[in-house]
Amino acid sequence: MASGPPARKAGGMPRKHRIVLGGLAALILAAGGATLGAAIKGRPITVTKDTDLAFDLPAPVRESLYYASLAPNSHNAQMWQVTAYPSRGELAIALDPDRLLPVTDPAGREALISVGAFTENLVQSLEAYGYEVEVTTTQVAEAGRDGPVVIVHYGGNPGEPDGIGQQALEAMTLRHTEKGVMLALPLTAAQLEALAAVPGVTYFQDGSDGFAYLAGGTVTAYRDQANDLAARQELAGWLRLSNGEALAQRDGLPAEQLGITGITKTLYYLTTSQADLTGDSFANQGISRTEKQVDGAAGFAVLVGDDPITAGRDLERLWLAATRAGVSVQPMSQILEDPAAAAALPAALGLTGTPQMILRVGRVSGDYGQNLGLRRPLAEFVTNGEP
Ligand SMILES: Cc1cc2nc3c(=O)[nH]c(=O)nc-3n(C[C@H](O)[C@H](O)[C@H](O)COP(=O)(O)O)c2cc1C
Repeated sequence: MASGPPARKAGGMPRKHRIVLGGLAALILAAGGATLGAAIKGRPITVTKDTDLAFDLPAPVRESLYYASLAPNSHNAQMWQVTAYPSRGELAIALDPDRLLPVTDPAGREALISVGAFTENLVQSLEAYGYEVEVTTTQVAEAGRDGPVVIVHYGGNPGEPDGIGQQALEAMTLRHTEKGVMLALPLTAAQLEALAAVPGVTYFQDGSDGFAYLAGGTVTAYRDQANDLAARQELAGWLRLSNGEALAQRDGLPAEQLGITGITKTLYYLTTSQADLTGDSFANQGISRTEKQVDGAAGFAVLVGDDPITAGRDLERLWLAATRAGVSVQPMSQILEDPAAAAALPAALGLTGTPQMILRVGRVSGDYGQNLGLRRPLAEFVTNGEP
Protein backbone atom coordinates (compact mmCIF):
# COMPACT_ATOMS: atom_id res chain seq x y z
CA MET A 1 0.00 0.00 0.00
CA ALA A 2 1.23 3.45 -0.84
CA SER A 3 2.36 5.42 2.14
CA GLY A 4 2.21 9.20 2.50
CA PRO A 5 0.31 11.88 4.31
CA PRO A 6 -3.29 11.04 5.03
CA ALA A 7 -5.80 12.66 2.77
CA ARG A 8 -7.23 15.84 4.33
CA LYS A 9 -10.85 15.47 5.19
CA ALA A 10 -13.09 18.02 3.62
CA GLY A 11 -14.20 20.56 6.19
CA GLY A 12 -11.73 19.14 8.68
CA MET A 13 -10.55 22.56 9.92
CA PRO A 14 -12.31 24.15 12.89
CA ARG A 15 -14.66 26.95 11.79
CA LYS A 16 -12.82 29.62 13.88
CA HIS A 17 -9.54 28.91 12.01
CA ARG A 18 -11.33 28.89 8.67
CA ILE A 19 -12.64 32.43 9.32
CA VAL A 20 -9.21 33.71 10.43
CA LEU A 21 -7.51 32.13 7.41
CA GLY A 22 -10.20 33.44 5.08
CA GLY A 23 -9.71 36.95 6.46
CA LEU A 24 -5.94 36.62 6.04
CA ALA A 25 -6.33 35.50 2.43
CA ALA A 26 -8.57 38.47 1.72
CA LEU A 27 -5.99 40.76 3.31
CA ILE A 28 -3.16 39.22 1.29
CA LEU A 29 -5.24 39.54 -1.88
CA ALA A 30 -6.08 43.16 -1.08
CA ALA A 31 -2.45 43.92 -0.27
CA GLY A 32 -1.41 42.14 -3.46
CA GLY A 33 -3.94 44.17 -5.41
CA ALA A 34 -2.74 47.38 -3.80
CA THR A 35 0.89 46.45 -4.49
CA LEU A 36 0.00 45.68 -8.09
CA GLY A 37 -1.89 48.97 -8.35
CA ALA A 38 1.06 50.81 -6.85
CA ALA A 39 3.49 49.02 -9.16
CA ILE A 40 1.35 50.04 -12.15
CA LYS A 41 1.22 53.65 -10.94
CA GLY A 42 5.01 53.75 -10.63
CA ARG A 43 5.69 51.93 -13.89
CA PRO A 44 8.02 53.89 -16.23
CA ILE A 45 6.02 55.72 -18.86
CA THR A 46 6.32 54.60 -22.49
CA VAL A 47 5.31 57.04 -25.20
CA THR A 48 4.90 56.04 -28.84
CA LYS A 49 5.57 58.67 -31.46
CA ASP A 50 2.75 59.61 -33.80
CA THR A 51 3.65 61.38 -37.05
CA ASP A 52 0.36 60.79 -38.94
CA LEU A 53 -1.26 63.75 -40.65
CA ALA A 54 -4.56 64.00 -42.56
CA PHE A 55 -2.80 65.68 -45.52
CA ASP A 56 0.25 64.89 -47.65
CA LEU A 57 3.58 65.94 -46.21
CA PRO A 58 6.76 64.01 -47.09
CA ALA A 59 7.78 61.46 -44.44
CA PRO A 60 11.21 63.09 -43.81
CA VAL A 61 9.46 66.41 -43.12
CA ARG A 62 7.05 64.73 -40.69
CA GLU A 63 9.99 62.98 -38.98
CA SER A 64 11.80 66.31 -38.74
CA LEU A 65 8.73 67.91 -37.14
CA TYR A 66 8.71 65.11 -34.57
CA TYR A 67 12.40 65.71 -33.75
CA ALA A 68 11.66 69.45 -33.58
CA SER A 69 9.00 68.77 -30.95
CA LEU A 70 11.62 67.10 -28.73
CA ALA A 71 13.04 70.59 -28.14
CA PRO A 72 13.16 71.97 -24.59
CA ASN A 73 10.22 74.23 -23.73
CA SER A 74 8.88 75.82 -20.55
CA HIS A 75 6.73 73.44 -18.46
CA ASN A 76 6.63 71.11 -21.50
CA ALA A 77 3.66 73.22 -22.62
CA GLN A 78 4.78 72.82 -26.27
CA MET A 79 3.57 76.31 -27.15
CA TRP A 80 4.23 75.99 -30.88
CA GLN A 81 1.85 75.62 -33.78
CA VAL A 82 2.97 74.88 -37.32
CA THR A 83 1.20 75.68 -40.58
CA ALA A 84 2.49 73.62 -43.50
CA TYR A 85 2.54 74.79 -47.13
CA PRO A 86 3.61 71.54 -48.84
CA SER A 87 3.52 72.84 -52.42
CA ARG A 88 6.11 75.51 -51.70
CA GLY A 89 8.10 73.54 -49.10
CA GLU A 90 7.38 75.86 -46.21
CA LEU A 91 6.61 75.47 -42.52
CA ALA A 92 5.44 78.51 -40.53
CA ILE A 93 6.01 78.25 -36.77
CA ALA A 94 4.05 80.54 -34.44
CA LEU A 95 3.12 80.67 -30.77
CA ASP A 96 -0.02 78.82 -29.71
CA PRO A 97 -1.93 81.41 -27.63
CA ASP A 98 -3.65 78.62 -25.63
CA ARG A 99 -0.35 77.21 -24.35
CA LEU A 100 1.36 80.26 -22.92
CA LEU A 101 2.38 80.87 -19.30
CA PRO A 102 1.09 84.38 -18.56
CA VAL A 103 2.02 84.37 -14.86
CA THR A 104 5.67 83.30 -15.01
CA ASP A 105 6.33 84.44 -18.59
CA PRO A 106 4.07 87.47 -19.17
CA ALA A 107 6.12 88.85 -22.08
CA GLY A 108 6.31 85.47 -23.81
CA ARG A 109 10.13 85.58 -23.71
CA GLU A 110 10.50 81.94 -22.66
CA ALA A 111 7.81 80.89 -25.12
CA LEU A 112 9.84 82.44 -27.96
CA ILE A 113 13.00 80.76 -26.66
CA SER A 114 11.06 77.47 -26.87
CA VAL A 115 10.04 78.27 -30.46
CA GLY A 116 13.70 79.03 -31.22
CA ALA A 117 14.77 75.65 -29.79
CA PHE A 118 12.03 73.95 -31.86
CA THR A 119 13.31 75.78 -34.96
CA GLU A 120 16.90 74.66 -34.34
CA ASN A 121 15.88 71.00 -34.03
CA LEU A 122 13.71 71.32 -37.14
CA VAL A 123 16.54 72.83 -39.20
CA GLN A 124 19.09 70.24 -38.03
CA SER A 125 16.64 67.37 -38.69
CA LEU A 126 15.68 68.58 -42.18
CA GLU A 127 19.39 68.92 -42.97
CA ALA A 128 20.01 65.42 -41.59
CA TYR A 129 17.47 64.16 -44.15
CA GLY A 130 19.36 65.96 -46.92
CA TYR A 131 17.20 69.07 -47.39
CA GLU A 132 18.59 72.53 -47.99
CA VAL A 133 17.03 74.82 -45.44
CA GLU A 134 16.48 78.58 -45.14
CA VAL A 135 15.03 80.35 -42.12
CA THR A 136 13.42 83.79 -41.96
CA THR A 137 11.38 85.50 -39.27
CA THR A 138 8.43 87.78 -39.99
CA GLN A 139 5.98 89.65 -37.84
CA VAL A 140 2.25 88.89 -38.12
CA ALA A 141 -0.23 91.53 -36.98
CA GLU A 142 -3.53 89.62 -37.25
CA ALA A 143 -5.77 89.83 -34.18
CA GLY A 144 -5.18 86.85 -31.91
CA ARG A 145 -2.15 85.73 -33.94
CA ASP A 146 0.03 88.81 -33.65
CA GLY A 147 3.67 88.09 -33.01
CA PRO A 148 6.73 86.67 -34.69
CA VAL A 149 6.42 83.75 -37.11
CA VAL A 150 9.43 81.68 -38.13
CA ILE A 151 9.33 80.50 -41.75
CA VAL A 152 11.39 77.40 -42.50
CA HIS A 153 11.81 76.68 -46.20
CA TYR A 154 13.08 73.26 -47.28
CA GLY A 155 14.16 72.21 -50.78
CA GLY A 156 16.31 69.73 -52.66
CA ASN A 157 16.23 65.96 -52.55
CA PRO A 158 15.81 64.21 -49.23
CA GLY A 159 17.35 60.82 -48.45
CA GLU A 160 18.32 58.67 -45.50
CA PRO A 161 20.46 60.51 -42.92
CA ASP A 162 24.20 59.83 -43.24
CA GLY A 163 26.44 59.18 -40.22
CA ILE A 164 26.61 62.86 -39.25
CA GLY A 165 22.86 63.25 -39.71
CA GLN A 166 22.22 60.18 -37.56
CA GLN A 167 24.40 61.62 -34.80
CA ALA A 168 22.44 64.88 -34.90
CA LEU A 169 19.11 63.04 -34.58
CA GLU A 170 20.50 60.82 -31.84
CA ALA A 171 21.61 63.87 -29.82
CA MET A 172 18.02 65.22 -30.00
CA THR A 173 16.60 61.97 -28.61
CA LEU A 174 19.16 61.90 -25.79
CA ARG A 175 18.88 65.58 -24.81
CA HIS A 176 16.71 66.07 -21.78
CA THR A 177 16.38 68.23 -18.69
CA GLU A 178 18.29 66.67 -15.79
CA LYS A 179 16.43 67.36 -12.55
CA GLY A 180 18.49 65.04 -10.39
CA VAL A 181 21.56 65.91 -8.38
CA MET A 182 24.70 66.13 -10.51
CA LEU A 183 28.24 65.29 -9.39
CA ALA A 184 29.98 68.29 -7.84
CA LEU A 185 33.05 67.52 -9.98
CA PRO A 186 34.63 69.97 -12.42
CA LEU A 187 33.89 69.46 -16.12
CA THR A 188 36.74 68.23 -18.33
CA ALA A 189 38.45 70.57 -20.81
CA ALA A 190 36.54 68.93 -23.69
CA GLN A 191 33.25 69.40 -21.85
CA LEU A 192 34.01 73.07 -21.17
CA GLU A 193 34.75 73.47 -24.87
CA ALA A 194 31.33 72.02 -25.69
CA LEU A 195 29.72 74.74 -23.54
CA ALA A 196 31.43 77.33 -25.73
CA ALA A 197 29.64 75.90 -28.82
CA VAL A 198 27.77 79.18 -29.25
CA PRO A 199 28.80 82.77 -28.51
CA GLY A 200 27.33 84.51 -25.50
CA VAL A 201 27.93 81.79 -22.90
CA THR A 202 29.71 82.53 -19.61
CA TYR A 203 30.55 79.67 -17.28
CA PHE A 204 30.60 79.97 -13.47
CA GLN A 205 32.29 77.00 -11.87
CA ASP A 206 31.23 75.64 -8.47
CA GLY A 207 33.27 77.52 -5.85
CA SER A 208 33.31 80.84 -7.74
CA ASP A 209 31.52 83.98 -6.54
CA GLY A 210 29.31 83.90 -9.63
CA PHE A 211 28.24 80.33 -8.85
CA ALA A 212 27.36 81.29 -5.25
CA TYR A 213 25.34 84.29 -6.51
CA LEU A 214 23.40 82.15 -9.01
CA ALA A 215 22.81 79.29 -6.55
CA GLY A 216 21.58 81.62 -3.77
CA GLY A 217 19.56 83.79 -6.16
CA THR A 218 17.88 80.75 -7.72
CA VAL A 219 16.73 79.42 -4.34
CA THR A 220 15.45 82.87 -3.26
CA ALA A 221 13.60 83.45 -6.54
CA TYR A 222 12.23 79.89 -6.51
CA ARG A 223 10.97 80.40 -2.94
CA ASP A 224 9.26 83.70 -3.86
CA GLN A 225 7.61 82.03 -6.85
CA ALA A 226 6.58 78.96 -4.85
CA ASN A 227 4.87 81.28 -2.35
CA ASP A 228 2.92 83.06 -5.08
CA LEU A 229 -0.54 81.50 -5.48
CA ALA A 230 -0.96 82.53 -9.13
CA ALA A 231 2.39 80.92 -10.05
CA ARG A 232 1.47 77.79 -8.07
CA GLN A 233 -1.83 77.54 -9.92
CA GLU A 234 -0.18 78.02 -13.30
CA LEU A 235 2.35 75.27 -12.59
CA ALA A 236 -0.35 72.96 -11.19
CA GLY A 237 -2.17 73.11 -14.53
CA TRP A 238 0.84 71.51 -16.21
CA LEU A 239 1.63 68.85 -13.60
CA ARG A 240 0.47 65.32 -14.40
CA LEU A 241 -0.48 62.91 -11.62
CA SER A 242 -0.52 59.53 -13.37
CA ASN A 243 0.90 57.81 -16.44
CA GLY A 244 -2.64 57.72 -17.83
CA GLU A 245 -3.07 61.48 -17.50
CA ALA A 246 0.37 62.15 -19.00
CA LEU A 247 -0.35 59.86 -21.95
CA ALA A 248 -3.80 61.35 -22.52
CA GLN A 249 -2.42 64.92 -22.55
CA ARG A 250 1.04 64.15 -24.04
CA ASP A 251 2.39 67.38 -22.52
CA GLY A 252 3.23 68.89 -19.14
CA LEU A 253 5.28 67.51 -16.30
CA PRO A 254 4.72 63.95 -15.04
CA ALA A 255 6.79 62.59 -12.14
CA GLU A 256 9.80 61.84 -14.35
CA GLN A 257 9.99 65.45 -15.52
CA LEU A 258 10.30 66.53 -11.89
CA GLY A 259 13.12 64.03 -11.31
CA ILE A 260 10.84 61.64 -9.41
CA THR A 261 11.25 57.99 -10.44
CA GLY A 262 10.99 54.44 -9.07
CA ILE A 263 9.32 53.91 -5.70
CA THR A 264 9.23 57.67 -5.05
CA LYS A 265 7.15 58.06 -8.22
CA THR A 266 4.70 55.46 -6.91
CA LEU A 267 4.42 57.29 -3.58
CA TYR A 268 4.10 60.68 -5.31
CA TYR A 269 1.23 59.47 -7.51
CA LEU A 270 -0.44 57.58 -4.65
CA THR A 271 -0.33 60.45 -2.19
CA THR A 272 -0.74 63.61 -4.28
CA SER A 273 -4.10 65.04 -5.32
CA GLN A 274 -4.80 67.93 -7.69
CA ALA A 275 -5.63 70.11 -4.64
CA ASP A 276 -2.25 69.28 -3.04
CA LEU A 277 -0.42 70.82 -6.00
CA THR A 278 -1.26 74.35 -4.86
CA GLY A 279 -0.67 73.66 -1.16
CA ASP A 280 2.23 74.68 1.09
CA SER A 281 3.63 71.21 1.52
CA PHE A 282 4.03 70.68 -2.23
CA ALA A 283 5.62 74.15 -2.56
CA ASN A 284 8.07 73.33 0.25
CA GLN A 285 9.06 70.06 -1.42
CA GLY A 286 9.88 72.05 -4.57
CA ILE A 287 12.01 74.48 -2.56
CA SER A 288 14.03 71.70 -0.92
CA ARG A 289 14.43 69.95 -4.30
CA THR A 290 15.81 73.21 -5.70
CA GLU A 291 18.23 73.58 -2.78
CA LYS A 292 19.57 70.08 -3.47
CA GLN A 293 19.82 70.78 -7.20
CA VAL A 294 21.94 73.93 -6.82
CA ASP A 295 24.13 72.07 -4.31
CA GLY A 296 24.79 69.32 -6.84
CA ALA A 297 26.30 70.85 -9.97
CA ALA A 298 29.64 71.44 -11.64
CA GLY A 299 28.65 74.98 -12.54
CA PHE A 300 26.17 77.38 -14.10
CA ALA A 301 26.25 78.50 -17.74
CA VAL A 302 24.55 81.81 -18.53
CA LEU A 303 23.51 82.53 -22.11
CA VAL A 304 23.04 86.16 -23.17
CA GLY A 305 21.38 87.43 -26.35
CA ASP A 306 19.08 90.18 -27.56
CA ASP A 307 16.39 88.28 -29.39
CA PRO A 308 14.66 85.33 -27.65
CA ILE A 309 14.10 83.26 -30.82
CA THR A 310 17.81 83.45 -31.68
CA ALA A 311 18.63 82.73 -28.03
CA GLY A 312 16.41 79.63 -28.27
CA ARG A 313 18.31 78.41 -31.32
CA ASP A 314 21.59 79.07 -29.49
CA LEU A 315 20.29 77.31 -26.38
CA GLU A 316 19.52 74.18 -28.39
CA ARG A 317 22.86 74.21 -30.21
CA LEU A 318 24.63 74.57 -26.87
CA TRP A 319 22.49 71.84 -25.25
CA LEU A 320 23.04 69.37 -28.13
CA ALA A 321 26.80 69.99 -27.92
CA ALA A 322 26.64 69.44 -24.16
CA THR A 323 24.67 66.21 -24.69
CA ARG A 324 27.31 64.86 -27.06
CA ALA A 325 30.00 65.73 -24.51
CA GLY A 326 28.13 63.96 -21.68
CA VAL A 327 27.23 67.18 -19.85
CA SER A 328 23.79 67.18 -18.21
CA VAL A 329 21.76 70.38 -18.24
CA GLN A 330 18.87 71.89 -16.28
CA PRO A 331 17.58 75.38 -17.00
CA MET A 332 16.86 77.28 -13.78
CA SER A 333 14.75 80.24 -14.83
CA GLN A 334 13.38 81.66 -11.60
CA ILE A 335 15.91 84.56 -11.38
CA LEU A 336 15.02 85.58 -14.93
CA GLU A 337 11.29 85.32 -14.13
CA ASP A 338 11.68 87.91 -11.34
CA PRO A 339 12.05 91.33 -13.06
CA ALA A 340 14.16 92.91 -10.27
CA ALA A 341 16.47 89.89 -9.92
CA ALA A 342 16.84 89.66 -13.71
CA ALA A 343 17.71 93.36 -13.99
CA ALA A 344 20.40 93.04 -11.28
CA LEU A 345 22.04 89.99 -12.87
CA PRO A 346 24.32 91.52 -15.56
CA ALA A 347 26.03 93.89 -13.10
CA ALA A 348 26.31 91.22 -10.42
CA LEU A 349 27.97 88.76 -12.80
CA GLY A 350 29.83 91.24 -15.02
CA LEU A 351 27.84 90.24 -18.12
CA THR A 352 27.22 92.40 -21.17
CA GLY A 353 23.92 91.71 -22.89
CA THR A 354 20.55 90.40 -21.78
CA PRO A 355 20.69 87.09 -19.89
CA GLN A 356 18.26 84.71 -21.61
CA MET A 357 18.96 81.35 -19.94
CA ILE A 358 20.59 80.17 -16.72
CA LEU A 359 21.66 76.53 -16.93
CA ARG A 360 22.80 74.24 -14.14
CA VAL A 361 25.34 71.86 -15.69
CA GLY A 362 27.37 68.86 -14.61
CA ARG A 363 27.81 65.14 -14.92
CA VAL A 364 25.57 62.46 -13.49
CA SER A 365 26.79 59.19 -12.06
CA GLY A 366 25.88 56.28 -14.32
CA ASP A 367 23.85 56.50 -17.49
CA TYR A 368 23.35 59.93 -19.15
CA GLY A 369 19.65 59.20 -19.65
CA GLN A 370 17.45 60.21 -22.56
CA ASN A 371 14.43 62.27 -23.51
CA LEU A 372 11.12 60.96 -22.19
CA GLY A 373 9.51 61.81 -25.55
CA LEU A 374 6.27 63.03 -23.94
CA ARG A 375 5.15 65.14 -26.90
CA ARG A 376 1.84 65.63 -28.69
CA PRO A 377 1.05 63.76 -31.91
CA LEU A 378 1.96 65.82 -34.99
CA ALA A 379 -1.71 66.18 -35.95
CA GLU A 380 -2.29 68.24 -32.80
CA PHE A 381 0.15 70.99 -33.72
CA VAL A 382 0.60 70.83 -37.52
CA THR A 383 -2.16 72.03 -39.86
CA ASN A 384 -2.40 72.36 -43.63
CA GLY A 385 -2.19 75.97 -44.80
CA GLU A 386 -3.20 75.12 -48.38
CA PRO A 387 -6.75 74.56 -49.69
C1 LIG B 1 12.78 78.82 -21.70
C2 LIG B 1 12.87 77.59 -20.84
C3 LIG B 1 12.85 77.70 -19.45
C4 LIG B 1 12.93 76.57 -18.64
N1 LIG B 1 12.99 76.71 -17.28
C5 LIG B 1 13.12 75.61 -16.50
C6 LIG B 1 13.27 75.74 -15.08
O1 LIG B 1 13.25 76.83 -14.52
N2 LIG B 1 13.45 74.60 -14.36
C7 LIG B 1 13.50 73.37 -14.94
O2 LIG B 1 13.67 72.37 -14.24
N3 LIG B 1 13.37 73.22 -16.28
C8 LIG B 1 13.19 74.32 -17.06
N4 LIG B 1 13.08 74.16 -18.42
C9 LIG B 1 13.09 72.81 -19.00
C10 LIG B 1 11.70 72.36 -19.38
O3 LIG B 1 10.93 72.10 -18.22
C11 LIG B 1 11.83 71.10 -20.26
O4 LIG B 1 12.51 71.44 -21.42
C12 LIG B 1 10.50 70.48 -20.61
O5 LIG B 1 9.86 70.00 -19.46
C13 LIG B 1 10.70 69.31 -21.57
O6 LIG B 1 11.54 68.36 -21.01
P1 LIG B 1 12.89 67.91 -21.72
O7 LIG B 1 13.81 69.09 -21.74
O8 LIG B 1 13.43 66.81 -20.88
O9 LIG B 1 12.56 67.48 -23.12
C14 LIG B 1 13.00 75.29 -19.25
C15 LIG B 1 13.02 75.18 -20.65
C16 LIG B 1 12.96 76.31 -21.44
C17 LIG B 1 13.01 76.18 -22.94
